[in-house]
Amino acid sequence: MSVHFIGAGPGAADLLTLRGRDLIAQCPVCLYAGSLVPEAVLQHCPAGARIVNTAPLSLDQIMEEITAAHAQGHDVARLHSGDLSVWSAMAEQLRRLRSLGIDYTVTPGVPAFAAAAAALGVELTLPEVAQSLVLTRTPGRASTMPPRETLANFAKTGATLAIHLSIQNLTQVVADLTPFYGEDCAVAVVWRASWPDQRIIRATLGRIEAEIDGSMERTALILVGPALAAEGFSESALYAPDYDRRFRPQTADSVYKDSIE
Ligand SMILES: C[S@@+](CC[C@H](N)C(=O)[O-])C[C@H]1O[C@@H](n2cnc3c(N)ncnc32)[C@H](O)[C@@H]1O
Repeated sequence: MSVHFIGAGPGAADLLTLRGRDLIAQCPVCLYAGSLVPEAVLQHCPAGARIVNTAPLSLDQIMEEITAAHAQGHDVARLHSGDLSVWSAMAEQLRRLRSLGIDYTVTPGVPAFAAAAAALGVELTLPEVAQSLVLTRTPGRASTMPPRETLANFAKTGATLAIHLSIQNLTQVVADLTPFYGEDCAVAVVWRASWPDQRIIRATLGRIEAEIDGSMERTALILVGPALAAEGFSESALYAPDYDRRFRPQTADSVYKDSIE
């Protein structure tokens, strides 16, 4: 028996990996984080599966579901939104499973930041503009931030920021970032990326608050940084006609000349 942790993607039912879909289809028990996992993903569960929305459950109650399945020898599909490597609360479940000696696997999913970037049609890293992406958040009711992980500290780098779980803190986000990025820096808020009712607001740090209405709460990602609106960036050297590389040796004496057949 195994518990299969599966990243269920950002919302659209078809943004699920084939492996995730197949695992869901073979598990007689499915536990899903119903606050964000789309119900359409549950259509892959086998007929008669026990399907439990864990949104109203405590960690102890979730573990009771898992240990009951374990006692019956039933595999469990455990679905969390997006990918499991960020803000999924997977780690605490894995720790308990390890202490109970219950096997598990982890299948990645499409994270919200990738779905938001796709919706915007942008690359978040551009040559000489931004080569780093910071996945972060601001403090919430249930979560404090480690003291050095401030927006100001990240902003000093000029990297692209993908700020999660923070649309309710937009005023503070703008106040913290403006001294570093400037009022004219590009911002995009993507609400429910990949859902049928997805909404996108593009603005600047100076304008974003005026553009957002109160209906865009909870499932929104704030993206900030010059890469979001850059047009005059350099092209990647990798694809420059004269760039000598393993797959495209440029000269007879290239160190790569014998590396392609
Ligand atoms: C608990 S975190 C889950 C993150 C998820 N594990 C991931 O890989 O993206 C929830 C936050 O992710 C962001 N988020 C999740 N799904 C989203 C979506 N479809 N569109 C925009 N933001 C989303 C929002 O900032 C939301 O507050």
